Amino acid sequence: MNPLKRLGRRRASLLGLAAVMALVTPGTANGAPDAAKAGTLGAQAAQSGRYFGTAVAAGRLSDGTYTSILDREFNSVTPENEMKWDATERSRGQFTFGAADQIVNRAAARGQRVRGHTLVWHSQLPGWVSSIRDANTLRGVMNNHITTVMNRYKGRIHSWDVVNEAFADGGSGQLRGSVFRDVLGNGFLEQAFRTARTADPAAKLCYNDYNIEDWNAAKTQGVYRMVRDFKARGVPIDCVGLQAHFGAGGPPASFQTTLSNFAALGVDVQITELDIAQAPPNAYANTVRACMNVARCTGITVWGIRDSDSWRASENPLLFDRGGNKKPAYNAVLTTLGGTPAATQSAPNAAALPGSYSWSSSGQLISPKPDATHNIAGIKDPTVVHHNGKYHVFASTASSSGYNLAYLNFSDWSQAGSATHHYLDRSAIGQGYRAAPQVFYYAPQRLWYLVYQTGNASYSTNPDISNPNGWSAPRNFYSSMPDIIRQNIGNGHWVDMWVICDSANCYLFSSDDNGHLYRSQTTVGQFPNGFTNTVIAAQDSKYALFEASNVYKVQGSNQYLLLVEAIGSDGRRYFRSWTSGSLAGSWTPLAASESNPFARANNVTFPSGAWTRDISHGEMIRAGYDQTLTIPSCRLQYLYQGMNPNAGGDYNLLPWRLGLLTQTNSTC
Ligand code: XIL
Repeated sequence: MNPLKRLGRRRASLLGLAAVMALVTPGTANGAPDAAKAGTLGAQAAQSGRYFGTAVAAGRLSDGTYTSILDREFNSVTPENEMKWDATERSRGQFTFGAADQIVNRAAARGQRVRGHTLVWHSQLPGWVSSIRDANTLRGVMNNHITTVMNRYKGRIHSWDVVNEAFADGGSGQLRGSVFRDVLGNGFLEQAFRTARTADPAAKLCYNDYNIEDWNAAKTQGVYRMVRDFKARGVPIDCVGLQAHFGAGGPPASFQTTLSNFAALGVDVQITELDIAQAPPNAYANTVRACMNVARCTGITVWGIRDSDSWRASENPLLFDRGGNKKPAYNAVLTTLGGTPAATQSAPNAAALPGSYSWSSSGQLISPKPDATHNIAGIKDPTVVHHNGKYHVFASTASSSGYNLAYLNFSDWSQAGSATHHYLDRSAIGQGYRAAPQVFYYAPQRLWYLVYQTGNASYSTNPDISNPNGWSAPRNFYSSMPDIIRQNIGNGHWVDMWVICDSANCYLFSSDDNGHLYRSQTTVGQFPNGFTNTVIAAQDSKYALFEASNVYKVQGSNQYLLLVEAIGSDGRRYFRSWTSGSLAGSWTPLAASESNPFARANNVTFPSGAWTRDISHGEMIRAGYDQTLTIPSCRLQYLYQGMNPNAGGDYNLLPWRLGLLTQTNSTC
């Protein structure tokens, strides 16, 4: 958005400002739609901030049925065998990564996240390791293995199973015998986790095991004591993986208790290798429900796609049959994740986005909440993520004294109007011109970023999105305005900075209110530093390519979506759209005209009253919350700013409010 812009004055209305303000009731929340339903496991899990993954075998990636289900349904993958010791270091010091690379690169290209499995395990361990008898030698070998494998995939693995299956079955609650325990003693676990933290500080470090789902089992208690001890002594551990290889009875009754008790120690829990003999729908639903009920249960991985892909193939334990059809357990899982199963067994394809759109709008969901020191006239330019069961919205506040930022959160759109507004000028972000925020979680650094305009492109970081006081002071992405912008900006303004990353690079887009969309880039490793190579990514006439660009990855496809706000022949704001196969590529029009817009008053219905004719600066509701900015391909939703069409006067005092569009022509 442009705080200085004069365009609004063209629409100065007959109504005085006081009359305009009286027309708007702050805090109204009529017409709030239901929470979105997605049609695939990954997209549905993402709605609660979780991932839904599968084990992947490199040898099956040439099977088209397999890969089409993989890419449609799952947003996390675990190499089934390809990262194990016998696959990566069959002879001492000779590392082979071909098959693991294949899985990781393929996943990265599709926006799927990767679990690393596994570094230290007594099984699938080459004989040269298990025959070592000297502690110093084994310690060196173990540390070198962890460091080399983790380095190879540094920054690309969301969670690593650092140690797998170290505890004994039965009633001892002690470690099992293995070369690691027998030669190094019980301390090998601590050593492994410390080495792992140093190798890739951005990865979550998990202890993974089976038969630790029943809270009453001695093995569960043994693992629990270890995690509690690690946390007490500051040994790095971030998560416990519960494999969940179940018999036909499904999870034990205490499964959820186990998840929450581990979580209460301050670690995440993940279901890492789920399969259930005969795949009873109820058993699957109970497993998924336990995870959904525990906030720190961050994701579920099934151990294979079709029954024929399973290591327990004779027990038909998975969600898809041998032909790749969804089994009843699939629908049970989708429903338990909160989604709506397709009416038929035929798979809804995560198709490319359609070429035209229609939307239904809510009423005004979010209005300014002035306080004694913040006399806010408009709330604008929202950015939103769904994380940990809540929507987190950041927006510009406009008042006669200029622009700053506000933050609110709520669990449901029906509560958006009553949420508390936190003014971020009270945080280290400080007072002065800050506007047009964009929020995302930068997974490699485990930090939230808020990107905004200050005259430069600026950002603050925060380890906890829900803490409005946790934001750091503004820093700039650029030392000064890049030359190419200076040369093309004319009488425009440098506005609306937007960051999106793929697996290798991060891109910073911005607009100039003069028909140019700019793009700079840096590497994922260097971010937030190093933005260079600024180019014009798209251009058109001034009002046709005005400002407020959004760029997203479309889940389950190779598409990126670009939205740019334009000013129509009626003087009203609307969005045009383009797609591209890569973030640095050229943009092909999708729905990009006034008659076939992405979102404009002429393709939006207002069941609770047409409160705006502008569909202006906002944000898509994303499928996840990280730097990849992944959106679902179905039933899109867009949080936007609109205002009373009769309002006019000083641009900074216009009564902008926020509403939510829900796509009505989705075919999947
Ligand atoms: C299994 C694989 O699925 C098989 O292909 C392989 O032959 C043996 O290992 N616990 C684990 C997984 O942590 O790595 C195992 O995977 C299943 C049990």
